[in-house]
Amino acid sequence: MNACNCFLQMERDKLVHYWQMVFEYFLEQGFPEGLLRFVCINPYEASQISAFIERINPRTMLEIGTFIGLSTGVLVLASPPDSILVCVDPNLPVNVLSERFHYFESRGSLWFVRNMLEHFEKRQKTVVLEGCFTPMSALYRDRLLARGGNPENVAVIGERARDFAPYDLVLVDGDHSEESVYADLSLVYHYISEGALIILHDLSGDWGIHVFSGVSKFLQEHPEFSVRIHENLGFLYRRSHHISTLMKGLY
Ligand SMILES: C[S@@+](CC[C@H](N)C(=O)[O-])C[C@H]1O[C@@H](n2cnc3c(N)ncnc32)[C@H](O)[C@@H]1O
Repeated sequence: MNACNCFLQMERDKLVHYWQMVFEYFLEQGFPEGLLRFVCINPYEASQISAFIERINPRTMLEIGTFIGLSTGVLVLASPPDSILVCVDPNLPVNVLSERFHYFESRGSLWFVRNMLEHFEKRQKTVVLEGCFTPMSALYRDRLLARGGNPENVAVIGERARDFAPYDLVLVDGDHSEESVYADLSLVYHYISEGALIILHDLSGDWGIHVFSGVSKFLQEHPEFSVRIHENLGFLYRRSHHISTLMKGLY
């Protein structure tokens, strides 16, 4: 391996290392590996997201859909020292997503996020907003009702994210139904900087078609944006901005 390749490999290892640190933390907390691997971002996605953070150097980042915080941990560990991360999640019982892995936990997901942030000493630079970014979809309403919860108790708080705008990087990984992806993008559009990068999770697999339909609907109304899809991640950005050149160079 020549010196250049060796350096690139070391960089990649460092970026995957963030994911590994948070993944191992959650394994130690007793979460099943299958749940973490199936519901949360994987090491390759984490390394791509971290690489963009290094290149864009965002001042403010937004995460829609935090769950217990594996992606949150990666974002915050990879973030520049003086940046802040705002996370939005309805704080539903972990059971809503974990029962199919035979893992039962009735506490809200944000309890685990806050503990994880304390553990990595990143609480100060993270704002955790509890509620749905845009109204809860029928799918999530049904999931919550089936577990004895009441969707009416979950606030819609997307507008509170305005207080920390503009965002230079956004990770959209909340509700993957077409209506929610479209609604999330339509609101987040008002809160981003000119050169912002919006990263969408789950563009392939079972949810891919729904996420893609939501993105397409957004693009019809915002033709100044382009989307690039690389495996399970989608990248949305203003075509006119230099981020467009960066994307072309990378994918
Ligand atoms: C796939 S999980 C997120 C996984 C996380 N990003 C990771 O990689 O570690 C989706 C999360 O989005 C939340 N969610 C559902 N509807 C939402 C909405 N309207 N706004 C924000 N979050 C939502 C769910 O409760 C769940 O915690």
